[in-house]
Amino acid sequence: MHNSDIARRHEFAQEIAREAGVIARRYFGSGDRIQATEKGAHDLLTQADLDIDRLLIDRLREAFPEDGILTEESGGSAATNLWVIDPIDGTLNFARQIPHFAVSIAFHAQGRTESGVVYNPVTDEMFAARRGLGAFCNQRPIRVRDTRDATDAVVDAGYSLKRPVADYVVLVGELVGNGYGFLQNGSAALGLAQVACGRIDGYCELFLNSWDVLAGLLLVEEAGGWVSDFTADGGLLHGNPVLACTPSIRQSLQGLVPLGRNEPVKRAG
Ligand code: IPD
Ligand code: CA
Repeated sequence: MHNSDIARRHEFAQEIAREAGVIARRYFGSGDRIQATEKGAHDLLTQADLDIDRLLIDRLREAFPEDGILTEESGGSAATNLWVIDPIDGTLNFARQIPHFAVSIAFHAQGRTESGVVYNPVTDEMFAARRGLGAFCNQRPIRVRDTRDATDAVVDAGYSLKRPVADYVVLVGELVGNGYGFLQNGSAALGLAQVACGRIDGYCELFLNSWDVLAGLLLVEEAGGWVSDFTADGGLLHGNPVLACTPSIRQSLQGLVPLGRNEPVKRAG
């Protein structure tokens, strides 16, 4: 795909992320308890997820009818040029009036992510990256943090019920036992954006879907960080474990976070 076509899509992704943000803020600021239904334990769906999903699909279909679309709420299938979208990542936070959630939009073309946009509508922070052109927050360049070692590092370890609880418990034990500070902030997309802008040092989760992470992983890469090969072995459609961090702690974290799908977490001897 030509550079100018990618540039057009990158600008458009930010435009529709802002439009989605208007809907998210309207529900978030309504003061009432946001109505949510459970897709599974601690896995919620709100009317805002559905409204934003609809808006983004409609806007993209109109602007780029030739592109494929894959979203958390509507699904989709593989395409050479594919939009990968999470209308609200961090729905549990959103439903509980915690302002840590984001709209996540990635554009994946011919096997690699070319554009990644993660927008927090409450803080009005637009994290955006284009492959080879750097990562930005509200148009200011961002970089991963220059961390010395584990005791200087904080890692967000996302919790997924798609893997055995015991694995998560061991993972957190290993992180803390090796000196890492630990967070579980409830949005993979924003967690990755926080790594990219140097607020935290790493993000990991034992299983995630592409709509949760594709945009955020490009942010980390373009901000000088290291990211695991998420799309390996069918990850784009079937999900994979995720690790993304500042390069100085990569080796250490790779020893703690298994990156094979369904690979158990090992307790260090
Ligand atoms: C979830 C968030 C959370 C992660 C879960 C995801 P959702 O996405 O990214 O941080 O730990 O695995 O499912 O449900 O809020 O869109
Ligand atoms: Ca999500």
